[in-house]
Amino acid sequence: MRTVFVNGEYVPEDEAKVSIFDRGFLFADAIYEVTSVLSGRLIDFDGHMGRLERSAGELDMALPMDAAGLLDMHRELVARNAVDEGLVYLQVSRGAVDRDFPFPPPDTPGTVIAFTQTKKLIDNPKARTGIEIITVEDLRWGRCDIKTVQLLYPSMASTRARKQGAGGAWLVRDGMVTEGTANNAYIVTRDGTIVTRDLSHDILSGITRKAVLACAKKLQMKVEERPFSLEEIDNAVEAFTTSATTFVQPVVGVNGKPVGDGKPGPVATKLREIYIEENLKTAR
Ligand code: PDD
Repeated sequence: MRTVFVNGEYVPEDEAKVSIFDRGFLFADAIYEVTSVLSGRLIDFDGHMGRLERSAGELDMALPMDAAGLLDMHRELVARNAVDEGLVYLQVSRGAVDRDFPFPPPDTPGTVIAFTQTKKLIDNPKARTGIEIITVEDLRWGRCDIKTVQLLYPSMASTRARKQGAGGAWLVRDGMVTEGTANNAYIVTRDGTIVTRDLSHDILSGITRKAVLACAKKLQMKVEERPFSLEEIDNAVEAFTTSATTFVQPVVGVNGKPVGDGKPGPVATKLREIYIEENLKTAR
């Protein structure tokens, strides 16, 4: 049984309790981060905590713990659960108060919970074979740059993908891909340019995205941050996604059609390798 973290305490997972009045539960008034663990160490922890602070700021939410406290807690959870490879999920909500739409007084204590999942991240068969995805209309709200737990629509899209035998879904707004349900989306054009949507309120600023684009630039690959269309996917030689838990994952088919030659391509393969190598160096 796992040990999880709830409001300052480490408890067995079946003893962890959060109020039914918690605003995360009633209003999805909560933010989260997922940090991967490799060799028992946290990957890009500072990036994830920086984004958590930004999400909290955008929502006027106070963070009950500072970055140093959060780092200690993440390390403690990884150690107590002997996680060698996997992830730490962290969620902060605005706290528990009687149900009312406006935000409660700012001194309402927030709820902090965290748990680990053990998972093979490096030796992931999907990284070797790639995944097939479908595209669905992006019906999410207008602030996808804030990492909230309001994930019903991404869950619906992922469910639809699974029912159709696909490994994921990319979201499309006005004919242009925004991002995946839980990852950022990329294509590689015939001239070798990596194209991924530019940062705005339409997508989450992926921590892995930032690191992977830095790797691409270091390797002198051409990168264009702009929207791309479904038609451009048809003409692409490669496609891939990035996220904290999948790193770089090749996409070999979209809506039943192969991308390029239908196999993981050299750009995604190289970026995955370099990303893992570079980020292990700075793991904490
Ligand atoms: N999802 N876009 C969305 C909508 C996401 O939910 C995520 C991450 C990303 C990639 O961000 P990062 O590289 O920082 O993980 C992009 C996490 C992994 C999740 O919900 O489990």
